Amino acid sequence: MRKMIVLAGALMAMAGVAASVAAQDKAAIVKKRQDTMKQQAANLKYIANFAKGVGGDQADAGYKVDELQFISGKLLSLFPPGTSSADLPDAKTYAKPEIWTDYAEFKTIPPKVADLETALGDAVRKGDKRAILVAIGNLGKNGCGACHSKFREKMPQQ
Ligand code: HEC
Repeated sequence: MRKMIVLAGALMAMAGVAASVAAQDKAAIVKKRQDTMKQQAANLKYIANFAKGVGGDQADAGYKVDELQFISGKLLSLFPPGTSSADLPDAKTYAKPEIWTDYAEFKTIPPKVADLETALGDAVRKGDKRAILVAIGNLGKNGCGACHSKFREKMPQQ
């Protein structure tokens, strides 16, 4: 009897360890997601600066677009189930639960983002600065913004 109680205690302790590892994994997922989002914003800023003539160069702006397309190709992998703001109230994630309840809609957004990035890439390759700024505006509004307006919680600094 005593042995069984000890065993049950050990199993419960192991389950506790597993749960906390999972919580750590989720925190890491949220951090990677937020870092990746910030990376996208930094790339757009670089390209915008090039278009405004206040920094950067055309070749690097092209690489930044390639990187954006690489990221939009794997955006969905940043959103595994169980990582919403409701699932992780302590993790400071702004990912709304609607991402997973309206997943059929959510998953249509990254391909649209990729198309808008293709248009941006064309403008960068041509070196057409006015077209670049228009393409950034479109991407921000109809790509990034389309997702944020429905699927991201209001963020304190925005
Ligand atoms: C498919 C949906 C989706 C798309 C597309 C998307 N985002 Fe986000 N973004 C989110 C969500 C959800 C969050 C909140 C993530 C979190 O807190 O876990 C977020 C957060 C952010 C943040 C805040 C990061 C932080 O924690 O400080 C920035 C900046 C950002 N996105 C920029 C962009 C830019 C720029 C683009 C377009 C190139 C973009 N996002 C495209 C869904 C999206």
